[in-house]
Amino acid sequence: MWTFLLPFAIAAASPVVVQQSPQQEVLGELEINGSSASKLHGRFLHITDIHLDPFYEPGTSPRKSCHRGKGAAGLLGAPGEGCDSPETLLNQTFDWIERNLRDEIDFIVWTGDSPRHDNDERHPRTEKQIEELNQAVVDKFLEVFGKKKDGGQYKPAIPIVPNIGNNDVMPHNIFEKGPNKWTRKLGKIWRPFIPEEQRHTFLQWGWFCTEVIPRKLAVVSLNTMYFYDSNAAVDGCASPSEPGYHHFEWLRVQLQLMRERGMKAILIGHVPPARSGKRRNWDESCWQKYTLWLHQYRDVVVGSMYGHMNLDHFIIQDSREVTIGEVPEEMPISRLDDDLNQTITVQSKFSYLSNLRKEWARLPSPPPGLKFGSNSEDLEGEKKKKKKKKKKKKNKKKQFLKKIGGPFAERYSVSLVSPSVLPRYYPTLRVFEYNITGLEHAVTWADSGPHVSMDSAWIQREADLSKKKPSGIPSPPSKSAPPGPAYSNQPLTLLNYVQYYANLTQIETGANQNDKPSAFEYDVEYHTHQDGIYHMRDLTMPSFFDLATRIAGNNPEVTYEHADVKKGKKKKKKKKKGSKDNKVWRAFLERAFVGFLNDDNLDGVE
Ligand SMILES: *[C@@H]1O[C@H](CO)[C@@H](O)[C@H](O)[C@H]1NC(C)=O
Ligand SMILES: *[C@@H]1O[C@H](CO)[C@@H](O)[C@H](O)[C@H]1NC(C)=O
Ligand SMILES: *[C@@H]1O[C@H](CO)[C@@H](O)[C@H](O)[C@H]1NC(C)=O
Ligand SMILES: *[C@@H]1O[C@H](CO)[C@@H](O)[C@H](O)[C@H]1NC(C)=O
Repeated sequence: MWTFLLPFAIAAASPVVVQQSPQQEVLGELEINGSSASKLHGRFLHITDIHLDPFYEPGTSPRKSCHRGKGAAGLLGAPGEGCDSPETLLNQTFDWIERNLRDEIDFIVWTGDSPRHDNDERHPRTEKQIEELNQAVVDKFLEVFGKKKDGGQYKPAIPIVPNIGNNDVMPHNIFEKGPNKWTRKLGKIWRPFIPEEQRHTFLQWGWFCTEVIPRKLAVVSLNTMYFYDSNAAVDGCASPSEPGYHHFEWLRVQLQLMRERGMKAILIGHVPPARSGKRRNWDESCWQKYTLWLHQYRDVVVGSMYGHMNLDHFIIQDSREVTIGEVPEEMPISRLDDDLNQTITVQSKFSYLSNLRKEWARLPSPPPGLKFGSNSEDLEGEKKKKKKKKKKKKNKKKQFLKKIGGPFAERYSVSLVSPSVLPRYYPTLRVFEYNITGLEHAVTWADSGPHVSMDSAWIQREADLSKKKPSGIPSPPSKSAPPGPAYSNQPLTLLNYVQYYANLTQIETGANQNDKPSAFEYDVEYHTHQDGIYHMRDLTMPSFFDLATRIAGNNPEVTYEHADVKKGKKKKKKKKKGSKDNKVWRAFLERAFVGFLNDDNLDGVE
């Protein structure tokens, strides 16, 4: 099983020789003893933005935060309104997870914001309440995924990786350099989920990492509060006096160590690195480092996942926009926050999405006929074609590939944003599938015992790396290293995700008609691979590049081939770009709002 890891290890820039490390022996031993071991399922859950509200009352007015008055607040929430989530929705969601996912997933990434918003003057948030609401969600996780330890305490049966959201602290958005009150409070509440050897780091800074598949895959929980433009207590990532600066130095050490250990990493955060036109979520200096780090560690990072915006979409970072050393003047900004004013929010979200589309329209266009992403084998050898045509085509192909950073589009990286459990539109959950070829016998987190810690040789290496003076730009993968899992399908590559949603309109109508709630279910909204419109081969960068260009509508041929896969037709008509004409853009737009907005809302959004 080491056969696939060794090329990466040898390729590592560092002099550490993995073959001689004690790691292998320990692993071998674990494997022999682990015959009754649990197996990986190749699936994990992303859950985000629960926003539990103990004051929620069904039948009250959404204009009064669903706390009072008479109105349309439903049993399970008030989709499309500014209310938070009732406990019933939390309970039903975890019941559904227990029935449908509990025994099917390997780990959970949980990207923050479990407590309610500060949306009612009569019930201002308190520190105690924020802690209790976070604890309530921890209790739910342990109820469904907990195993009783000898002492009667619960411990999770699979790794659950929490992350700090801007509403997990008080006042919201404000997070001081640690250690602080909130690293202590959350460190205590999330204790079952933070590995022993990472507790010190969490208390100090509010970030940590967990080896969700020991010695193979880690989830890095970033503290995006240090990057967040709305956090007035910090100032970006450029100055060594800022926690954001230390965050990227720590991340550099972790990713370097993982490269040397032949490991891969998933990055998670609450506030996504949204940046479009003049609008952005993160301080520019943090975005710059993030984009550069993702590029330099493109052999290590499997993917990155965020919440916060309650808007299903993805973000493409272009490494050629990195200007570290020549950071541009502060640009005027308007924030992309999800505030509670729906009138403003929906309009500003339309313009944000339209802007993304405009940017994607400027991505280099593949030459006609080149199937990219959805079928990128074609890139490596189109041998069957006639010779004359071939040469011209080959040149165009070559130019195109040069522009995008080679056949794996390594110039770019992608960040995924999942919508929320909070029914800002409809409540959602996202389940990823990843490639476990060759990991059939991997030791799972559950079987690896109470300590998943590194052996002393690697701990020493980590310490050495941390002591080294930062050289500015992290080292790239070695020239001979194969493309990473975010670029080419291999073990740990994300293959697809299923977006689940609960149609509360339908569920609540059923409840009214029969005078009892119809069974609460999350249904499939779309499946990135099986879906007739997205039809993504996998979740690698080439696949996202392909999807982005189809959304932008600058390659209508490709669009139509994909759009009609389901019907078995292949229309090759060239159509005008436009909201109604481009099915992929329209699907992207509908899905951004979890199918909640109707044609009247969406027509004309271009
Ligand atoms: C939710 O579940 C908990 C037990 O996990 C229970 O104590 C509580 O009453 C339930 N709340 C509602 C509103 O059903
Ligand atoms: C939302 O913003 C609009 C436009 O500024 C304003 O007219 C409206 O009163 C606001 N609504 C609420 C609930 O604050
Ligand atoms: C997983 O990766 C291997 C290459 O290492 C590939 O052969 C296999 O098809 C991939 N599995 C899936 C389900 O895509
Ligand atoms: C939700 O349910 C309502 C009522 O049944 C239906 O009209 C609507 O199309 C559904 N929306 C989605 C996205 O499923």
